[in-house]
Amino acid sequence: MKKIICMCGIVAVTGYKKALPLLINGLEKLEYRGYDSAGIAVINPDTKNIICNKAEGKLTNLLNNISNKHIHGTVGIGHTRWATHGKPEVKNAHPHIDSSGKVAVVQNGIIENYQELKDKLEKEGIRFNSDTDTEVIPHLIQKELLALNKLNLEKNGSTLLVALRNVISDLEGSYALAVLWADAPDSLVVARKQAPLIIGLGEGEFICASDTPAIANFTKIILPLEDEEIALLTPLGIEIYDSNNERQYRNPIHLHVSEQVIDKKDYKHYMLKEIYDQPDTAKYWIEKFLFKDSKTGQYQIDYPFDTEFFESIERIEIVACGTSKHAAMVGSFLLEQFSGIPTNVFYASEFRYSPPPLLPNTLTIGVTQSGETADTIAAINMEIKRRSSMSDEKYKPNLVAITNRMESSIGRQISNIIDIGAGVEIGVAATKTFFAQLLSFYGLAIKFAQIKGTQNNEIINQLISELTKLPPLIEELLEKHNKTSEKLAHDFFNIKDVIFLGRGINYPIALEGALKLKEISYIHAAGYPAGEMKHGPIALLDKKVPVISIATPGVVFDKVISNAQEAKARDSYLIGIAPECKGTEIFDYLMMIPETNEWISPLLAIVPLQLLSYHIAAHRGLDVDQPRNLAKSVTVE
Ligand code: F6R
Repeated sequence: MKKIICMCGIVAVTGYKKALPLLINGLEKLEYRGYDSAGIAVINPDTKNIICNKAEGKLTNLLNNISNKHIHGTVGIGHTRWATHGKPEVKNAHPHIDSSGKVAVVQNGIIENYQELKDKLEKEGIRFNSDTDTEVIPHLIQKELLALNKLNLEKNGSTLLVALRNVISDLEGSYALAVLWADAPDSLVVARKQAPLIIGLGEGEFICASDTPAIANFTKIILPLEDEEIALLTPLGIEIYDSNNERQYRNPIHLHVSEQVIDKKDYKHYMLKEIYDQPDTAKYWIEKFLFKDSKTGQYQIDYPFDTEFFESIERIEIVACGTSKHAAMVGSFLLEQFSGIPTNVFYASEFRYSPPPLLPNTLTIGVTQSGETADTIAAINMEIKRRSSMSDEKYKPNLVAITNRMESSIGRQISNIIDIGAGVEIGVAATKTFFAQLLSFYGLAIKFAQIKGTQNNEIINQLISELTKLPPLIEELLEKHNKTSEKLAHDFFNIKDVIFLGRGINYPIALEGALKLKEISYIHAAGYPAGEMKHGPIALLDKKVPVISIATPGVVFDKVISNAQEAKARDSYLIGIAPECKGTEIFDYLMMIPETNEWISPLLAIVPLQLLSYHIAAHRGLDVDQPRNLAKSVTVE
């Protein structure tokens, strides 16, 4: 079956205030989730009609469309879309409306059986206006409403709730939905299944959104909808029901402070600001997770799980995607080489369909900054399911999640959680959250090494001491390399291919450097373990292909330098991410990093690479924060 994949951001409001400004503010904050098209629908309180407006491309196009229109209803829904199927055209933009014009729907997710439902509706004479999966929903709701009308149910929000509940029982896939019905003009019905939806509670009004930044300006009190829940919202209150139609009552929660701050300050792009946030990211980790035991004088890691939890673990499996996978690879290196625990890292999307055989006493770690990546969540769920079914205690699930979003699906699902606390990241390319994920792994590696006794106190203290020095070191690197990378970007903004090399603990940094460059500058880049070059990729090299080599003193330093020599012999321009020391004179250009303990070198090497990618993309005049075809949270497989 062909899938329409839509990650998207949705926002919906009901209350006494004008809906439009709240919708627009929410959509602006959600644009990082997709920016192929945007749309809003508001119920006109006078005519009881739905006013809908949509535009292709970014939100500004929608704003231009509606700038001189008077849209003054208090109940509305909005959407910003990311699609890979079909062109991002106005007809495919949300909201989607049924043939009577009375029901409007926005959706985030994917309706897997939409074709079957669509075929059926078409046979019944319904005409479709879009190529999306979503459009089946308003038509199905309208059909249900007609059926309920025959039962003499009143035209109000409760009836809409019943209609949507009946419809979602026929939907396969994942979704977060918000629905308006012109005949119930103060009501909003929302539902979710494997896609996030959070309700913000204001005074006499409610705003629902895919993510907290869309809510933060409006209220600090939120109620995340749980999986498979459905809710009716009116200015008078909320009714939430679970999948068994049981009414749910629970206390709202307060928004995390870091969830509320979205400020670009004076930076040209969020990405640059977020690169510059990294000294604070390091400070946060040091203050939150490192403490000195007053009796022993020894530093300890304060992760929220007890010692017994670590003692029983014999091996670790990590699931993650994209940049989070690269952080997990550094983590795996540390956990094996520093703490002595056999560790494997998997792409979450691969793990789901080819999981390794079950082994006892295994810790499964899910790494996801957004906490919403569908493949990572599905991989974790699968692991919970297959391990929970085992009778032997040794095979039961042991889980840890590393996330930046405690309110996210993973944050609410898993109790052993490391909150990386990097603050909301708006740039689609992950920077400070990668840095914070790395730090979380240093903490885990130290904790395991202490508990398992795989390193002596002196070595552990030395590593901890290096970690405490990070904030000023990162500040210096930013100071030094913002200008140097801008200059390099001027020379290299037109290149077509770049090769990144690293070995050992810095091989994942080569992969991450390449990912950063390609995703925001659209320049082809590939990362390799430096020793692999001669087994094929070296054929790519000539004077048009620069090589960026991470060469930090340690076990493989001499090897990396000889691999760089091999590239130089093929006329490649060589950029070194390395200290100024014997051997690094071979680089045509040195992006200097300080000489430190090899274990912490990834935390330093990544900074110049982030800056270089940023400046190359900015120099090319590209939309650094919202690169084409990407979105910040990938909520579908
Ligand atoms: C790249 C990037 C993506 C994400 C990936 C996983 O800069 O941001 O590769 O790392 O989509 O996202 P999370 O960490 O939210 O699971």
